Amino acid sequence: MENKIVVGNIKMNMRFSEIPNYINCFKNINSKNIIICPSYIYIPYFLNYNFNVGSQNVCSLEDKGYTGEVSAKQLSSIGVKYSIVGHSERRIKLNESSIEINKKIKCCIDSNIKVILCIGETKEQFNMLKKDIVLKRQIKDALYDIEDISNIMIAYEPIWAIGTKEIPNLNELENTVNYIKTTIYNMYKKDIKVLYGGSVNEDNIDELNTINNLDGYLIGSASVNPNRFLGLINRISKIL
Ligand code: 13P
Repeated sequence: MENKIVVGNIKMNMRFSEIPNYINCFKNINSKNIIICPSYIYIPYFLNYNFNVGSQNVCSLEDKGYTGEVSAKQLSSIGVKYSIVGHSERRIKLNESSIEINKKIKCCIDSNIKVILCIGETKEQFNMLKKDIVLKRQIKDALYDIEDISNIMIAYEPIWAIGTKEIPNLNELENTVNYIKTTIYNMYKKDIKVLYGGSVNEDNIDELNTINNLDGYLIGSASVNPNRFLGLINRISKIL
């Protein structure tokens, strides 16, 4: 199996006391295709190893007057190479708009931060056979007025699969990944990498790995415990 991209989205799970053990487990990892995304406050502890570090979010503005926000320029200045943008938890629970998502991507591109753009449909949209329309709309809105997509990858995360232990049917997932790639190709005449996220775990990783067109995974809860995450990475990629 070639080297797939594996992103760990730790969300708000970690406490300060857990960092040394996490770092200890990952310090010998030698792959820039492993991207760990801790909370902003913990990012400095994860830098300067041979894996990559991403942020879970970024401010949509570069102006200095936004108390509590963190800009792409600041992230870039400490060595963050990736940012997750448009996660459904932010879109839904924090009302993040597609206009903001578009601005965040532009800020990242300007600061040379690679974007992991999350898209995905709700269960209701899925049941009403609106998945493809929703995904295309999310892609077009997010990439509005963006000419260069070389620093962008897509993470397809069906909202109904996040934290539910449910994953899409494998055929359906392969078709959706194809659909996303074709949609982008038709817009830019360029290939884009597509990751899958949503309940990736030890029970489904082998079947997910049989999907040929997937470029990697965005992993939430199974990335919180470093040994568990390493075990999964081991079954995804030949880096260990
Ligand atoms: P889970 O892997 O916990 O389902 O979370 C997926 C996710 O939201 C990653 O961004």
